[in-house]
Amino acid sequence: MSGTRTVVVASSLDELHRRSAQYVAQTIAAAVAARGRCAVALSGGSTPRGTYALLAAPPLRDVIPWASVHLYWGDERCVPADHADSNYHMAHEALLAHVPVPPGNVHRARTELGNPEAVAADYEREVRAHVGADDGVPRFDLIMLGLGPDGHTASLFPGSAALDEATRLVVPNGIDYMPHPRVTFTLPLLNAARAVQFLVAGAGKAPVVARAMNGDPAVVASRVCPTDGVVRWDLDRAAAGE
Ligand code: 6PG
Repeated sequence: MSGTRTVVVASSLDELHRRSAQYVAQTIAAAVAARGRCAVALSGGSTPRGTYALLAAPPLRDVIPWASVHLYWGDERCVPADHADSNYHMAHEALLAHVPVPPGNVHRARTELGNPEAVAADYEREVRAHVGADDGVPRFDLIMLGLGPDGHTASLFPGSAALDEATRLVVPNGIDYMPHPRVTFTLPLLNAARAVQFLVAGAGKAPVVARAMNGDPAVVASRVCPTDGVVRWDLDRAAAGE
């Protein structure tokens, strides 16, 4: 069954953060009610920071069943966990440091392993060990993603070999115009999700958002089509401009 797509256009970045945070809280509540736990993969980049801050503050912080929430990252830069460019570091500052999520529920990519290949293989083992699978592929309840001006999402960059990965769930990847070697979820893992949520803001993203909405295959985000899941786009008016 192909998934459904919902597009929510907020009047401002603040409203995008409010609506997207509400959706995250609702998705967590539904997953915990249905299965007793929730697996969420967080996005890197700057757009989600405001959403994480709302999840880390009343009222949402106090209604989310954090003990039943397991947190992961859809991609990570191969830098130390306390590095300013670390996606884990950003989420720790904006969210993890402010909510009672048990440390054992925080599943970060162990970049201290150094070699991106080793980091990716280790993280795939972590995902496979802790995220319930359907048909052999771990199924996240929610994967939060961003969208780069080049159409990349997570660290799946246009033209990269990672786009053709059909069996591995986490692979090393990078591109010369983005900082640091990275590891990233692959399309098989993204497309096994029950829900994928894109958070995109700013007029600079309007052209690539329009292309993604029209299914332009050159836009990596166009290839995120969960086989049995929903896709939600949280946009501000500027990003939805076209
Ligand atoms: C990363 C992110 C990346 C990001 C987009 C959008 O590690 O950089 O995973 O995919 O989501 O580049 O970033 P902004 O939200 O900062 O525009």
